[in-house]
Amino acid sequence: MGTYLFGDTAELLDPHFDALSSLLDAGTFARVEQLGIANGWRCLEVGGGGGSVANWLADVVAPSGHVTVTDIDVSRLEERDNVTVLEHDVVSGVLPGNAYDLVHARLVLFHLPAREAVLRKLRDALRPGGWLVLDEFDCLPLEVLSAAPDDAKLIMRVKNALLTLLDHTGAELAWGARIERALSDAGLHDVSGSREVQEWEGGSSGCRLLATTARLVRAKLPLSDDEFARYLELMASPETVVSSYAICSAQGRR
Ligand SMILES: C[S@@+](CC[C@H](N)C(=O)[O-])C[C@H]1O[C@@H](n2cnc3c(N)ncnc32)[C@H](O)[C@@H]1O
Repeated sequence: MGTYLFGDTAELLDPHFDALSSLLDAGTFARVEQLGIANGWRCLEVGGGGGSVANWLADVVAPSGHVTVTDIDVSRLEERDNVTVLEHDVVSGVLPGNAYDLVHARLVLFHLPAREAVLRKLRDALRPGGWLVLDEFDCLPLEVLSAAPDDAKLIMRVKNALLTLLDHTGAELAWGARIERALSDAGLHDVSGSREVQEWEGGSSGCRLLATTARLVRAKLPLSDDEFARYLELMASPETVVSSYAICSAQGRR
């Protein structure tokens, strides 16, 4: 339990992070803007992945603000004038206390069996009044809305196989559904959140994310090569429509 499922497939991660960024960055940026982020804020971006959020934060808080971006794999993260890149495991590593105006993590705690302890660690890294923002998925709503019956079955087989793999590595599949409660339970104030189920058409950034995720775990999926090729075709075809993972966000202040 607890090994990051997508960590050992380096060349497949670029398209995966691209899909995450196209799908989620606009919503993440809008939520953080609503908090009043401005020049001078000190930010911690946890599990920064491809770096799109850290780079945006760095632009918004410049010239006097600063971003520390962490990950267990920092190969895609860029040092800049006001960005410090830290190879850091948020489960075992220490973070400075009372240090940040904003701590943000997207689709990181989802994977971590120790998510509640990590949440408390992120809370303690905030200065009093600072904001913790989480963006997560609730994976359960994914269903097929439009595809031929055999294709629909294949899409659901891939969903179920992927969720089983995630579950076995300690991910909490519906974690997104309870992040507001988790922030309140951690003692944060002014907690609010949102949950959105979208329709993802084949070729959209959402279906690209499903395809890149399946590629990351291809060797572990119980599918023939023909079935896997068909799945990738379906994720690229505008005739396919699925209801999305619920995109869940929550914020609270220390
Ligand atoms: C699904 S990706 C999300 C990346 C990025 N936050 C985004 O939304 O585009 C999860 C990220 O968490 C990182 N990660 C996994 N376990 C971690 C840990 N224990 N400490 C820090 N980062 C971790 C992974 O390396 C990966 O970059």
